[in-house]
Amino acid sequence: MPLKEKLIQKIKETQGEIKSLVKEYGSKVISEATVEQAYGGMRGIKCMVWETSLLDPMEGIRFRGYSIPEVREKLPKVKGGEEPLPEGIFWLLLTGELPTKKDVKEITKDWQSRSEVPNDTWKILKLLPRDMHPMTQFSIGIMSLQPYSIFVKKYNEGVSKAEFWDSTYEDVMNLLAKLPAIAGYIYRKTYKDGKRIRPKKNLDWGANFAHMMGIDELEYYELMRLYLVLHCDHEGGNVSAHTTHLVGSALSDPYYSLAAGMNGLAGPLHGLANQEVLRWIQGFLEKVGGKIPSSEELSKALWDTLNSGQVIPGYGHAVLRKTDPRYTAQREFALKHMPNDDLFKLVSLIYEVAPDILMKHGKAKNPWPNVDAHSGVLQWYYGVKEYDFYTVMFGVSRAMGVLAQLIWDRALGLPIERPKSITTEWIKQNVINK
Ligand SMILES: CC(C)(COP(=O)(O)OP(=O)(O)OC[C@H]1O[C@@H](n2cnc3c(N)ncnc32)[C@H](O)[C@@H]1OP(=O)(O)O)[C@@H](O)C(=O)NCCC(=O)NCCS
Repeated sequence: MPLKEKLIQKIKETQGEIKSLVKEYGSKVISEATVEQAYGGMRGIKCMVWETSLLDPMEGIRFRGYSIPEVREKLPKVKGGEEPLPEGIFWLLLTGELPTKKDVKEITKDWQSRSEVPNDTWKILKLLPRDMHPMTQFSIGIMSLQPYSIFVKKYNEGVSKAEFWDSTYEDVMNLLAKLPAIAGYIYRKTYKDGKRIRPKKNLDWGANFAHMMGIDELEYYELMRLYLVLHCDHEGGNVSAHTTHLVGSALSDPYYSLAAGMNGLAGPLHGLANQEVLRWIQGFLEKVGGKIPSSEELSKALWDTLNSGQVIPGYGHAVLRKTDPRYTAQREFALKHMPNDDLFKLVSLIYEVAPDILMKHGKAKNPWPNVDAHSGVLQWYYGVKEYDFYTVMFGVSRAMGVLAQLIWDRALGLPIERPKSITTEWIKQNVINK
């Protein structure tokens, strides 16, 4: 069944289900907020719905109920390949069901047919300074497509609210189809010869991204597929997801919404942490003369970082309390393809040493590595050493999750978000002096 038909079926089922759920249980309490939470980044307050994935603090992410090992096993792969196709995770996120090989092939074809990027976008990107951060370029590239929004066109024509999801779906598919070409060109123009590489008709979405960056190794295609699957979604409260959702709730179109989310991903405490990990490792290696350090040298460097008031990038998490299964999946890939690589050995050594130090330091609630602690070293191995670019790859992947949810936001008619804020004065009057 084509994706859109499947989606229509799911939307009808879910709309009815949620309507009666809210009618019957609407007044049940699922969360309450404390003063500490109000000042503490709203951690743990359950007050938004995000259908595509759910994060368990101990077990990690589940995409529509499927864990990372499960999606790696169950999602369709290319012939002879071992890693899941990103098209498959998109199908799963959107419909809640596992796709067949045929379903996935149809998405590849659909995205190929929508992948032509307008000339204006190329012109705009070309004008941007080479030393502008790739995430800034990426955000501008996304915004340059906004005038083509079908949602805006339909909205201005006065289409009914019940149909909003349809034009959102079209925008999302158009946007996802074009992201690898835009990201690939940003890579070429920032670090290479500046020439655009055309996509290939026989390649899937992930492999084409690698191809348009200028890397045509089968093993790297596999890494790219895995990378794009692993980073796609991490429930709704993280900065990129929540921002896309919040901006979208004002009925800003998918281009505005995604660009906003990507600007959040560009923060060093969020998606930019993957480049920070590599920066930290390279800086450290320089100090120890490029050799693989001893545990003692590494411990000292980690303590130096902490004592100078900085965070250890790639470690800790706002929700997770165990090693991130996205880290583990990447470690498995490394063990298979590059077990003797020096940088991988160093990343492994950090994994042995850092959690203990973070525990002794006593601040981080989670001393274990997150996804960003491992992604850079894999890219480095295959020659993508320009670590400022890593977050753009993260962004191409994250777009799948946040945009799938945006379609559901429209399908469920979720309203504009408007939580209540309070002042310290209000707290004094209502909590302390009560
Ligand atoms: C991810 C992160 C932002 C979560 O923040 P959080 O929910 O506030 O984390 P915690 O509740 O554990 O923070 C409590 C304290 O521990 C510190 N802490 C958390 N992770 C730390 C780390 N990796 N290194 C040093 N200190 C850390 C926090 O800065 C905070 O310090 P403070 O009380 O002086 O403000 C945080 O762990 C971090 O900065 N990690 C490094 C960056 C990173 O890898 N980001 C990618 C996330 S996928």
